[in-house]
Amino acid sequence: MIPLTVGTTVETPERPAVLDGSRFNRHTFWCGQSGSGKTYALGVVLEQLLLETELPIAVFDPNADFTELSRTREDVEEVDAARWRDLDIRTFHSSTEREPQLHIRFVDLSVPSKAAVGRLDPIIDEEEYNALLHIDVRPENFARETFIQTLAASTDPARRRLGLRLDNLQVLDWPLWAFGRSSSAAVVAERPRAVVLDVGGFTHPGEPQAAALGILEDLWLKRMERRPVLIVIDEAHNFCPPTPRTSVEAQLTEQLIQIAAEGRKFGLWLFLSTQRPTKIHPNVLSQCDNLGLMRMNSPRDLAELADVFGFVPPQLLEQSPSFRKGEALFAGAFTDEPQRVRIGRRLTVEGGGDLAVAERIG
Ligand SMILES: Nc1ncnc2c1ncn2[C@@H]1O[C@H](COP(=O)(O)OP(=O)(O)O)[C@@H](O)[C@H]1O
Ligand SMILES: [Mg+2]
Repeated sequence: MIPLTVGTTVETPERPAVLDGSRFNRHTFWCGQSGSGKTYALGVVLEQLLLETELPIAVFDPNADFTELSRTREDVEEVDAARWRDLDIRTFHSSTEREPQLHIRFVDLSVPSKAAVGRLDPIIDEEEYNALLHIDVRPENFARETFIQTLAASTDPARRRLGLRLDNLQVLDWPLWAFGRSSSAAVVAERPRAVVLDVGGFTHPGEPQAAALGILEDLWLKRMERRPVLIVIDEAHNFCPPTPRTSVEAQLTEQLIQIAAEGRKFGLWLFLSTQRPTKIHPNVLSQCDNLGLMRMNSPRDLAELADVFGFVPPQLLEQSPSFRKGEALFAGAFTDEPQRVRIGRRLTVEGGGDLAVAERIG
């Protein structure tokens, strides 16, 4: 048992609420309606994991909520601030001009993932897919212009069509791609204590998902090294929805289903947050053993949770519509008994958040 103090119990407000940090070696599901405090509570738990365990964490952060994770708040006690300064926390940006930027190497993606980016089907587009399959460029030589030009100048019509396709779709123009530069996946592979991947600032909707594919495929490829990492995905419905809408989304959902089903023994543990249980793929949801539930009004969603998380007494789930912001029900492997908790204070600075309405001047 590694006690993580995440707040106080609602029943006895003077009693600290404790989760077992050693039980993040399985998958965790976090849900509640928008504004119920999911991301805040997620931050509190991640801070405790960083302070009290050795577990490396990689966060997919679509709202730039964790981009300030390396900075403690001013009112934090000096002992905690000092311990915090020793943590190796890296952030990769997409939304701002801030460095370093989040990059993935297109050539490192699996063939099905490259094909998904190019919207290629292995059967319907068999010739172009095959051309893609046999493309062999060294990552350090991979540059957008020469790659497309080489394809365009090929004597092989399938290669020429592939070049046209990639040029027309403009997918190689995505700022996500590293080309000659190094990949953020290589940093995740080094296992610093935390890597924050700000995926919210890309303009093309495929980019956050392709970024996740690049990181997750690399983790999966190296799974036999058995080096644990907690893979945190906020707004997880954009990464593994029940019915993927694009080829990239389908590919990413497949990868997450695989990690959900088989990742545990390799130390690939998921921590997924979303508004409703039905918004993520059932094959991912059904693999989760820890539940954090914030306020959720819909009886249908609560019934769904009762179904999937059979270990939670329904009368506790039914309290969820009355939860205030910052209140949560925790149940499953990481708590001895289900408990209703008032979440404690964050130690680090909250990033992102809602934009303030600018005051009118004059
Ligand atoms: N336990 C808490 N203590 C203080 N502020 C909180 C707490 N939980 C949420 N908030 C604040 O409420 C707002 C919404 O919370 P957030 O975690 O972003 O909700 P969600 O992720 O569920 O949409 C944020 O501005 C956040 O700072
Ligand atoms: Mg949120």
